[in-house]
This record gives sequence, structure tokens and C-alpha cells, in this order.
Amino acid sequence: MTDNRPRVFSGIQPTGRKTLGNYSGGFRQYVQTQEQGDAFFCIVDLHSITVDYDPTELHESTLDLAALLFASGLDAERSTVFCQSHVTAHAEAAWLLSAVTSYGQLGRMTQFKDKSAGREFVSAGLFTYPVLMAGDILLYQTDLVPIGDDQRQHLELARDVAERFNHRFGETFRIPEGVFPEIGGRIMDLQEPTKKMSTTLSSEQGAVYMTDPPDAIRKKFKSAVTDSEREIRYDPDGKPGISNLLEIMSVATGEPIAELERRFAGAGYGEFKEAVGEAVVELLAPIRERFEALRSDERELQRLLAVGAEKARRVAEPTLEAMYERMGFVQVEAGRLFGAARPRGL
Ligand code: TYM
Repeated sequence: MTDNRPRVFSGIQPTGRKTLGNYSGGFRQYVQTQEQGDAFFCIVDLHSITVDYDPTELHESTLDLAALLFASGLDAERSTVFCQSHVTAHAEAAWLLSAVTSYGQLGRMTQFKDKSAGREFVSAGLFTYPVLMAGDILLYQTDLVPIGDDQRQHLELARDVAERFNHRFGETFRIPEGVFPEIGGRIMDLQEPTKKMSTTLSSEQGAVYMTDPPDAIRKKFKSAVTDSEREIRYDPDGKPGISNLLEIMSVATGEPIAELERRFAGAGYGEFKEAVGEAVVELLAPIRERFEALRSDERELQRLLAVGAEKARRVAEPTLEAMYERMGFVQVEAGRLFGAARPRGL
């Protein structure tokens, strides 16, 4: 049976606590896109070793993330959820694709500049990170990549790499398109609303974590930085604090921003911030409850990840095979598990 639905692929790093930003640009979109296509969601553990990390913590946070993905609504029957390190094709594809990735373009990646700034030790992996990400996407002959705004530049690089490979070695990859949220593509830090809410760079008060208890969430919104002019109006350049809160409220309740502006016209900042906090508590509390239940059954999580890895391997291997073949590597009989298969659409 051929599946004509679009292929969906996205990845998310296991290290660090997942924020409301990750929910808005990531989780929320994963759950929506699993309805539209044949979806693959990858816990990108290989990406997480590109900055300083703790091996014990990586192990725990990988299982945390698996539980959180299912808790937020991914359905193991419909979506393939798996760990990047369980599908060796990812690491291999990254090396092969590095042949068609430009050093100059990698140096222009803003995430590399942000994460390497002021650090004494910058790993080679942090620099080549986008090549691994390109491989993630391209191995699955992906049509749609649901991501937040901060991944735009990396997706553009993946498209360039695919085109260069296709041009140099013959049509091998589909060219993927990004899927970005209309509202909430870039949730900002509650304390510094001109900066992105980030797992690694935000302060404890500036970031809302998906597993924060309700009272912690309320407190963070109460102390969120707002603007001097007391008017609840959406204007990201002039009023970044209030605009961010309006976006968050819209993400949490599904109400359009214009409607929220009308509803809170004349309200004080204190009242508005409290309402946003309550909306986020309502959004995250059930996810947190499901997370606690799923996380306590580690064997079941590992079983689900094993099923996901098996499905992912079956799809990724034929593409990897085609890459080796087209790049001129010698093939041997039965040398590779899925040697006879062809990538989807080729
Ligand atoms: P990561 O793990 O940093 O983030 C996961 C997803 O969350 C989104 N996101 C945000 N969206 C809105 N507002 C924010 N403040 C915010 N912060 C994070 C990200 O855009 C992302 O969609 N390089 C990727 C992981 C990756 C990947 C891939 C993604 C590896 N391979 C292949 C897609 C396809 C990353 O570090 O995301």
C-alpha cells in the first residue's frame, strides 16, 4: 500500500527542561501535523552532545522527553517517535552530506554564533550541527517540517544541501518545506521580552517549563515584565512584553489576538497577567499529569521507542543506500540490510 499523505518530520533536543516556547513552536505543531501526514518525531540525542552535557542527565532527559511527547498528544499508533541514536543512518548521512555543505554557510548560522559566543571550549559538533539536522530531515524524504522561527535558517541550509546533492549526484532528496505557527512561532522570555524564551539561555523566572507546577507558573506570569504605557495592544516592536503575553494567551486558549485585545480593553496589567497565567496553567496541568503517569513506566517508554526506531530505520535506510550508491561507493551483495529497497518517491 502506498501512502500519499505528506511525510512530516521534526526533531527536538532531549537536554534541558522543555519550555512554553518548545510547546508553541514544537509540541503543539507536532500534534496538529500528525493529523495531516505520515509523521516522524525524533528525539535528537546526538544533537545534545554538541554543548557541555552530563551523560546521566542525558539518559534521564531522553526518557523524560519521550514521556512528554506522548503526554502532549502524540499517538504511538499514528506517529513514529524515536531516538536519533537508535537509527545509525543519521550519523552516516551527516558525514556524507558534509561533502556538499559549505563551511562559509555553517559559519553564518546565528545559533552557532549565539551558542559559541564567550565560550572557552566550542565543539566541532556545534559547528557541524546543521549538517546532522539536514540529514535527519532528508533521510525521510520529508515534505513538511513543523518548527519554530529559530529553526528557519537551519531548514534553509537543509534545503540548500539537498539541492546541491541532487544537482551533483542526481535526484535523491525531496526538498522540504517548513511549517511555522502563525502566532507563537517565537515565544519570548518573560523577564527579557526582546530575547527568545530558551532552555539554555533564559533565567528560571524568564522561562515557563512544561512541567512547572501551577503555582510556579502563576508566579512567573505575575512577575512578567510589561511596558510602561498601560494599554493591552499587540505591537511586538513597541510593546514586546504585552505582545508576548497576548501571543501566549492566544496559543493557550486558541482565541485570536484581536479578540483578546477587545476582551481586555481597559483592564489593568495585573489582571491581564493573572488571566494569562491561569490560561497557561489550564493548558499545561493535564499534560503534566499525563507526563507523571507515563514517565513512571520506563519499560513501556523503552518499548515504544524500540517500535519507533524499527519503523524509522525501515524508512531511512533506503535513502542512505541511495546516497552511498550515487556518491560512487562500492556496493556489496547483501552488505546492507535494506539494500534492495528504494527511497520513497524515487
Ligand atoms: P530545539 O530542541 O531547540 O527546539 C524544539 C522546537 O521548539 C521550537 N522552539 C520555539 N518555538 C517558539 N518559541 C520559542 N521560544 C522556541 N524555542 C524553541 C524550535 O523551533 C523547535 O521546533 N535543531 C533543532 C532540533 C532538530 C530538528 C531536526 C528540528 C534536530 N534535527 C530536524 C526539525 C527537523 C532544535 O535544537 O530544536
